[in-house]
Amino acid sequence: MSSHDAYHPGAHQPADPAKTGHPRLQSAYDRPETAEEMTRRTFMTNATLAMGGVIGLFLAIPIVGSLIPDVGGGGESWTPLDPKGWSDLQASTDKAVQISINLKSKDAYLPEQGEAESVWGIKIKDPAKFQTARPDLFDKNGKVLPNGFPSGAQIVNLGFVIFSPICPHLGCHYNYDSTANKFACPCHGSQFDNEGAHIAGPAARGLDPLPLREQSGKASVEWIRYKPTVPDRLVISYTN
Ligand code: FES
Repeated sequence: MSSHDAYHPGAHQPADPAKTGHPRLQSAYDRPETAEEMTRRTFMTNATLAMGGVIGLFLAIPIVGSLIPDVGGGGESWTPLDPKGWSDLQASTDKAVQISINLKSKDAYLPEQGEAESVWGIKIKDPAKFQTARPDLFDKNGKVLPNGFPSGAQIVNLGFVIFSPICPHLGCHYNYDSTANKFACPCHGSQFDNEGAHIAGPAARGLDPLPLREQSGKASVEWIRYKPTVPDRLVISYTN
């Protein structure tokens, strides 16, 4: 052991006031229960709680916001139809037309994202006949079930009906057989006639409708998710 490593008892002990003649300085820890110390602790506790509350609020706002469906108070929930598909539907006769859409999704933490989707449209020459073919879509007053579309749109609008591309059985995307004029799902074999009525397979109801509107020459739809498997048409969410 070198002289630098040698242990010197008392080398770092506080100087004895009796020997030095100087009073020893006191820290707050030497008198923890003074009014001054208690006030300081209370202040620090309250300040910490307040800062935690502010930080929690900043974190909670975007989280809560991301859980709220984007129903678009000013009409932002409407998704434009691809103009080519819309014009194909207008020119159609009795065949269903698939129309592309770009479904926008918003998240509090991510930039707006687009997802390629499509909807099916059919031309309705006789709304009364369509209502007879699809009684599951209307109540006795001719309003869309269950409680009407949130936007108040009619199911037969501008002479067309738009169907969600999601199979009401378990959510696959179905196809259209233009030779047989019927819709068919590749997953479990459900089939629907040209008006979307259920005719075969395990689906518990016919195809689900989406609201359609046209403004300034641009057609758009409102995206609605319906609960699968059940006979009743229950809305899970509007838009995405
Ligand atoms: Fe379409 Fe099952 S998901 S038949």
